[in-house]
Amino acid sequence: MDISSWARLLLESPELSDKLTDLKPSASLLEWASYSLPDSPARSGKIQFSSERVKFPGLNKIKTPEGRSIAVHSFANHELLAIEMMAAAILIYPHDLNDPASIRLKKGLVSTIRDEQKHLKLYLSRLKDDGVEFGDYPLNDFFWRQMPKLTSMDSFLALMSMTFESANLDFALQYQQVFKEAGDPKTAEILRIVYEDELTHVAFGAHWMNQWKQDKTLWEYYTSILPYPLTPARAKGPVFAEHSRIEAGIDQDWIDNLKNYHDDYRITTRRSWK
Ligand SMILES: [Fe+2]
Ligand SMILES: [Fe+2]
Repeated sequence: MDISSWARLLLESPELSDKLTDLKPSASLLEWASYSLPDSPARSGKIQFSSERVKFPGLNKIKTPEGRSIAVHSFANHELLAIEMMAAAILIYPHDLNDPASIRLKKGLVSTIRDEQKHLKLYLSRLKDDGVEFGDYPLNDFFWRQMPKLTSMDSFLALMSMTFESANLDFALQYQQVFKEAGDPKTAEILRIVYEDELTHVAFGAHWMNQWKQDKTLWEYYTSILPYPLTPARAKGPVFAEHSRIEAGIDQDWIDNLKNYHDDYRITTRRSWK
């Protein structure tokens, strides 16, 4: 299977098992063909999106089996959304087979998707331990709803890597600790693995944005393409892990700007990790 056919399968098949299909690392990238963004990733039966909200468990509830399941279920949904959005990115943004950089970028997205599939599988197996199936709780499509605003690859990486995955570093560290303290080393270990991979995903986004920023600073460039109404407040969790961004190779000016960034969005009262 070539890379685009695989991306279409992940996005257009309504079955969870198809969205977990592996791709051979040697798969080839064929000539780009125009592709329009669908209204929604295909999802059937239990894994359909729902407008119903489930409250993300607080620090006491998360220590109960039900609280853990709700949290892990929500993390799993974010992994699946990342798979579908990155598959869409492979399809909708052009590449040029004569330009090695654009090939590298698409292949980088492929390896990121393979990590997200690994994360999703880990969360699904954790849910299974507790007798929970994916779709037992409502699944939101908040991340996907940003896709129509992301009209170019740079805005996609600004949102996906530098914002959502950047925030994920803080959340993965925070919840790794929460589960460790709750006496749940299994879930803590999954979050450790996720954290390590997300570091490379954030580094991937920063690498490409640094190639494209021209005479702007990374922060100026990033904030100029982040789509409204999202702000950099979305790029961090309640506990800001500066060392993670350093490790991801982001420059200190960007890190300081993010660390000191405040807006009306009340990050500490967000309802769930999303
Ligand atoms: Fe992930
Ligand atoms: Fe990721």
